[in-house]
Amino acid sequence: MVKIAPSILAADFACLLQEAKRMESFGADWLHIDVMDGHFVPNITFGPAVVQALQGRVNLFFDVHLMIERPQDFLHQFHQAGAQMLTVHAETCPHLHRVIQSIKKMGCKAGVALNPATPLSCLEYVAAGLDLVLIMSVNPGFGGQSFIPAVLPKIRDLAQKKKRHGLNFKIQVDGGINEGNAAQVVAAGADVLVTGSALFGSEEPREMIQTLKMLPRKEMNV
Ligand code: DX5
Ligand code: ZN
Repeated sequence: MVKIAPSILAADFACLLQEAKRMESFGADWLHIDVMDGHFVPNITFGPAVVQALQGRVNLFFDVHLMIERPQDFLHQFHQAGAQMLTVHAETCPHLHRVIQSIKKMGCKAGVALNPATPLSCLEYVAAGLDLVLIMSVNPGFGGQSFIPAVLPKIRDLAQKKKRHGLNFKIQVDGGINEGNAAQVVAAGADVLVTGSALFGSEEPREMIQTLKMLPRKEMNV
């Protein structure tokens, strides 16, 4: 089944815990926590203290998406706060291999995110050590943007490479996912869908989560 990761960027910040619990009760799997620093992306959200406040109070997998410069300086804090997956952007890490090793050494799952314009080739020598590859389907920084269709072939390419090389990472797609485009994204090879504004703005969020979870996944013929 497809895993659903609601992005709390689209939640009511005045009651984050209730919002997270609501998503848990609707059948969500992960909690996607968008950390922005005002440098790598032109927006600021929350830091480890907010992750810590939610830790242990909701039964979702804590998926922390670090849209920050120098992520290596904050890995330990986020892990201590409750992050179970730490995803860094390849664009922020000249020493990407080292950063992935640091995350794994703490006993945390490691992910790498790629902006829409960043090629898959930057993963070539690190893919085997990854738990997650996050394909951005908008330019990071804000919720509520439109899905960029040009990433569909990128997801397909990644899924084929993963199969061809027998790799184990999950493919996560983040940005502009809604009920109109999710089927294509899953058919292209996504394992985990992040959804923010479409889900939190939905009149029937439970049904939306259940529908997305059941989307058929394509078997790759490679
Ligand atoms: C964008 C974030 C995404 C995004 C998801 O920078 O990483 O998680 O906010 O929200 P929607 O689904 O509204 O694009
Ligand atoms: Zn995100």
